[in-house]
Amino acid sequence: MNTQEVNQELLSFLDHSPNAFFAVRNMREELEKAGYTRLYEGAAWALSQGRGYYVTRNDSALIAFHIPTEKARGFQIMASHCDSPVFKIKTRAEIEIDQHYVKLNVEKYGGMLCAPWLDRPLSVAGRILVQTEDGIETKLVNVDRDLLIIPNLAIHMNRQVNDGYAFNAQVDMLPLFCEKGEERNQFLQLIAEEAKVKAEDILDTDLFLYNRMKGTTLGLHGEFIASGRLDDLQCAFASLKGFLAAEPKQSIAVHCVYDNEEVGSGTKQGAASTFLKDTLQRIYRTLGYTEEEYQMSLASSFMVSADNAHAVHPNHSDKADPTNRPYMNQGIVIKYSANQKYTTDAVSGAVMRAVCKEAGVPWQTFTNRSDMLGGSTLGNISQGQVALNTVDIGLPQLAMHSPYETAGAKDTAYLIEAARVLFSSSFLGSGDGNYKLLF
Ligand code: CO
Repeated sequence: MNTQEVNQELLSFLDHSPNAFFAVRNMREELEKAGYTRLYEGAAWALSQGRGYYVTRNDSALIAFHIPTEKARGFQIMASHCDSPVFKIKTRAEIEIDQHYVKLNVEKYGGMLCAPWLDRPLSVAGRILVQTEDGIETKLVNVDRDLLIIPNLAIHMNRQVNDGYAFNAQVDMLPLFCEKGEERNQFLQLIAEEAKVKAEDILDTDLFLYNRMKGTTLGLHGEFIASGRLDDLQCAFASLKGFLAAEPKQSIAVHCVYDNEEVGSGTKQGAASTFLKDTLQRIYRTLGYTEEEYQMSLASSFMVSADNAHAVHPNHSDKADPTNRPYMNQGIVIKYSANQKYTTDAVSGAVMRAVCKEAGVPWQTFTNRSDMLGGSTLGNISQGQVALNTVDIGLPQLAMHSPYETAGAKDTAYLIEAARVLFSSSFLGSGDGNYKLLF
């Protein structure tokens, strides 16, 4: 695929993935098309060498794996996340104002930039749980039209607003839904109609706002892309594409996408959960390997924690570290943090460089300024369940956690190629200190 094709597919994936549930559904469809077999955590597994499989948890996290034809020596893993900071619709959502407007009650999910959510068309997507004849069924709902808006207050009513504004989520961020009519519970009624179910059969919902503005390419030469949810669906997309193009030879390739990174990863489908560990152990057990062979395999496994990175900002170039300054279109960003918020150390940094070299793609480095705290990600969190050599990387972007972020047009293709090489390779750790990479 050339860069343009990659970006077209990426932007389409982003447009069709308003939140984690849809991202997982879309990745599932890609995997099905490529001949991967779905497994369920609640059913027995039968695995064959040379085949590919995937399993989901909560419909919002996914692990796909490809078993080589030879006996596996370990796992080559890339982990990313498919949730983004967003506003969640509260249960009992409707608020009436002056018996004239109806607005929706929402709360923050994760740490977003609030301002760019204002004054633009928004809509609602997520899952609903529906009572059926023989149980409770999940349905995905996306109200695929311009539906809501969070209007700014006119400048005449707050003359100081441009000097800085503290957003109050309970006051400033509630979207306008409709004019009040005779009917009540119109929001739930709308959701029921979209899902083609009866409103009284909806038992509960996980519904989120999303920005209706579609992804695009911009810059004089089309060198930038902009879209919602680049963090971290850009990495999840690149990981999947590299995974599907790979040819695992001696290690099991594992494409892992967690939910709930933006709220600390502490859910059953987050990086702190047993999802990855359960899956890796189960693969080994089902293939007839021993517990010791599983332990041995982790010493010969490698994980790339892929979550987007901050590019140097054109208007705030002083916010970047003096010597580690990532730019868009300059390749994969290897992230360092002495206090190990990022897992990268000399071993995993060296391995990642070797992978990039083999893939023929550029890399660059990021650290926070020493006087800035920076963010965190999923790599170090997942070590509590599956401890192995891990590197933290990302693709360089601007405006992280805005509902419309900016990134480089070239970088996704670089990560796809590096992921392909990673998933086709093996990392052998015969003992601490010396490592072999087999490409
Ligand atoms: Co992220």
